[in-house]
Amino acid sequence: MTASLPSAAVLGARAFAALQGLNRFTDEPGKLTRLYLSPSHRQAAEWTRGAMEVAGLAAFIDAAGSVQGRRDGPVPGGPSVIIGSHIDTVKDGGRFDGNLGVVAGILVAQALRDAGIALPFALEVVAFGDEENVRYPTHLSTSAALAGVYDPAWLETRDAEGIRLADALVAFGGDPSGVAGLARKRGAVKAYIELHIEQGPVLEVENEPVGIVTAINAQRRARVCVTGEAGHAGTVPMSLRKDALTASAEMALALETIAAAHHQAVATVGTFQVSPGAANVVPGSVAFTVDFRCPSDDTLASMDAAIRSRFGEIAARRGVGLDFALYTNARAVPMDAGLQDALAAGVARAGGNVAARRLPSGAAHDAMAMAALCPSAMLFVRNERGISHSPLENMTEADAGIAIRVLLEAVLELARREG
Ligand code: GLV
Ligand code: MN
Ligand code: MN
Repeated sequence: MTASLPSAAVLGARAFAALQGLNRFTDEPGKLTRLYLSPSHRQAAEWTRGAMEVAGLAAFIDAAGSVQGRRDGPVPGGPSVIIGSHIDTVKDGGRFDGNLGVVAGILVAQALRDAGIALPFALEVVAFGDEENVRYPTHLSTSAALAGVYDPAWLETRDAEGIRLADALVAFGGDPSGVAGLARKRGAVKAYIELHIEQGPVLEVENEPVGIVTAINAQRRARVCVTGEAGHAGTVPMSLRKDALTASAEMALALETIAAAHHQAVATVGTFQVSPGAANVVPGSVAFTVDFRCPSDDTLASMDAAIRSRFGEIAARRGVGLDFALYTNARAVPMDAGLQDALAAGVARAGGNVAARRLPSGAAHDAMAMAALCPSAMLFVRNERGISHSPLENMTEADAGIAIRVLLEAVLELARREG
């Protein structure tokens, strides 16, 4: 059945060539920055739609900005298996985060078409557009739309320039009123599978090219505003200051201590804005974000309580105001056991003496949202030095090829299970 399928080496070479095409589209020349609904996101979406069509999928850009491609199975409009990932990036991000998973799905569709293999279900490839949640305070909004868990309040949120998400969506060519209609019916999707760079060092340390994700960690994000009192940097005595920056800095350090005290937890202050922001003015207010994650929902809840309590103590002692607004609260999401086994069967069938190592994901993924709709699973690819969300993000062409071949075999395994 699989004799005429491309080898891992061929798939790797095709993937790297496709990534060169896709990663031409960036909001910042010289870097890979492709924020949700930006002009480069539109260009990348159009490139992706074209690549899907070349692979024999009927493709379109949907109301929320995702690219959806589909080849029907024996029953027109019948249940599908979706392979997906995202084409938005962080600012100055890596080449593989999201993009590789989309390219992998397209290459799997192409390989099956070229080999003349008819699946007993429809095959879909989806390129989501808002996985990074950098531009708007959403959470996986484009996959949430498909999964039927889109929060309509997201449409009213604004980016750093004050642009409403709904308006950015219209400018992109999307349709805010059509987002609710993207929700798939329960049962219409048999499985969601996502191939993704690991974004961590485990597979490299274990010397394995791929890994099967067991669960995606719980995650919360908050916007914190600390309000002190601006004043003259030369005249206000230290004892009389209400310096919003030193209070915020103490909170950031407290956050580090809290993360260290909770099992397998991480916490990050990723943005920090000081106002008014002059060398000779005591900072009057600071806005920063807090992102904290760990494998257990209960541990995350106790971290949340510890953070609020410590930040409150620091604010009270320093006489500054504190506003702590949680805007993301995602529970840990286990991946489907049956699909994990299908990926393990794919690893075995792909050959090459590769182990089917299982590991959790510290990063968020569209699979988190899709798990609300259908059984979902993820395959990780070894990441050089575990560096991601960075232009230094890297992997070998050989590993990419092995992973795509495993994905292909996993889809064939799902087909076999229908038989
Ligand atoms: C996305 O990559 C996230 O985990 O924040
Ligand atoms: Mn990603
Ligand atoms: Mn990412």
